[in-house]
Amino acid sequence: LAAGVTLQGSLPFPFGAAVNVNLLKNNTAYRALVIKEYNSLTPENAMKPATLHPQENTYNWDDADYLVDFARQNNKRVHGHTLVWYKSLPSWIKNYQGNTAAWENLLKTHIQTIVTHFKGKVASWDVVNEAFEDDGTLRNSIWVQKLGPDYIARCFQYAHEADPDAQLFYNDFGHEYGATKRTVILNLINNMKSRGIPINGIGMQMHTRYNMTESNWTAAITTAAQTGLKVHISELDVALNPDNNQNLTLTTALAETQAQKYLFIVKAYNAIPKAQQFGITTWNVSDADTWITGNYNRPDWPLPFDSNYNRKPAYQGILDGVK
Ligand code: G3I
Repeated sequence: LAAGVTLQGSLPFPFGAAVNVNLLKNNTAYRALVIKEYNSLTPENAMKPATLHPQENTYNWDDADYLVDFARQNNKRVHGHTLVWYKSLPSWIKNYQGNTAAWENLLKTHIQTIVTHFKGKVASWDVVNEAFEDDGTLRNSIWVQKLGPDYIARCFQYAHEADPDAQLFYNDFGHEYGATKRTVILNLINNMKSRGIPINGIGMQMHTRYNMTESNWTAAITTAAQTGLKVHISELDVALNPDNNQNLTLTTALAETQAQKYLFIVKAYNAIPKAQQFGITTWNVSDADTWITGNYNRPDWPLPFDSNYNRKPAYQGILDGVK
């Protein structure tokens, strides 16, 4: 690779990573890599409800503001993640006692306080995350239980009221699993569009694995583009150990296979209309900070940088995807 080649400098759309604020503060190699390679940042956890809104009348902006300041100083876009989710709920919300109107007010206040705080600094948001189950049914989240299925549309309206310039995304995973899940997501989006609900983008997480049928990726990406909205591959990683083999090691062959898979996904994404390319974000930076090893308690190497922050074959695969 020629000296000076970077992801952000080589790709025709924004390329980002989910960033861990503790590492950004304390790990100089990580920080330098983030500055060098990416032009878009998503906070891995710093803008989630449990982090930002720990008590009903207390907001903790520290890590999120740090990330936003870092991004401003280094010319990076910040994509906000996530205003409303069934996970990462602070206990005061889980235990909240109130009638429907009180819950509605809680939801609205939560969204609008956060969006207002970052107005002019965070230009896009995952408004609602993971509202559906893999079988296509609506997840029976606390929000559905308290406010009914149309809470989703109202979340977008509340966010839009607070910052009419923000780009608002519906974010979920599993578009590539098969037609069932992506169809319910597309139906939701088309329904909201037809009602004039302010939605600008679809986030496809793409936590995927090296042995996924490639046509499933193409189907996910092209169908998402058919909404006419901005398309964000929002949490990309390509797992190499989906069967949880505790003794697996990373071979050259496996790393090369992974590179081909990154190449395929980037190429499919690059084929959608330019105006819809919001960008690709990987979920975490390196194999040292991936969520996968901790979450599934297994060795894995899903990212384009290894545990020493060196480029893997997947890095070249990403670059080759736009050739
Ligand atoms: O910070 C605390 C620590 O103080 C405590 O000792 C420890 C004990 O459990 O927990 C730590 O918090 C953990 C946090 O990550 C920071 O490491 C939480 O338990 C853990 O649940 C949390 O996991 C995050 C997960 O979302 C849930 O919010 C992962 O880091 C994050 O990568 C993951 O990201 C999600 C996206 O938001 C949505 N799509 C899927 C993706 C992967 O699961």
